[in-house]
Amino acid sequence: MYDTWEELERSIENCKKCKLYQGRTNIVFGTGNKNADLMFIGEGPGADEDIQGEPFVGKAGQLMNKAFDALEIEREKVYIANIVKCRPPQNRNPEKEEAIACMDYLRNQVMLVQPKIIVLLGSVALKNILGDEHSITNARGNWIENKGIWYMPTFHPAALLRDDSKKIDFWKDLKLVKEKMTLLGT
Ligand code: URA
Repeated sequence: MYDTWEELERSIENCKKCKLYQGRTNIVFGTGNKNADLMFIGEGPGADEDIQGEPFVGKAGQLMNKAFDALEIEREKVYIANIVKCRPPQNRNPEKEEAIACMDYLRNQVMLVQPKIIVLLGSVALKNILGDEHSITNARGNWIENKGIWYMPTFHPAALLRDDSKKIDFWKDLKLVKEKMTLLGT
């Protein structure tokens, strides 16, 4: 684990810990407030993110921006990262070995940000952070506290783009997050 962002960012520059490096244009490390109380963790970069080097800038990101607006949360005030930092081909889910290979970077990011709340966007984030025994349909909307951090699992925004009916629950979950922020005085 690195104690500074500079060291951590340098350590990932030429990463070849898994095969995803072969197809990447850019490493999508993470973005936002490095001291945020609220952090979002997605799955992995898509085509737009790979090109721009920033998480959630494509269609799913636009939906996230709408959610931030509705909740009056400034995107610049939160920290956003993904389970894997390089784009999986054809936007497939990251494989277990890829997620494991990349996990130290994310752990280090969480250690440096020290968020009070982490929103887990979708099944891949949920399972890789809190364990494979969880399912997103059961876990979403329920707080899980672990080592002083409050986790809120919810649907991945891309899932809402495929299935409109999930939107209501997504909004409900983010409202819970907003309430918790008030409670925690963030
Ligand atoms: N989907 C994700 O999980 N992460 C991104 O950065 C973009 C889309």
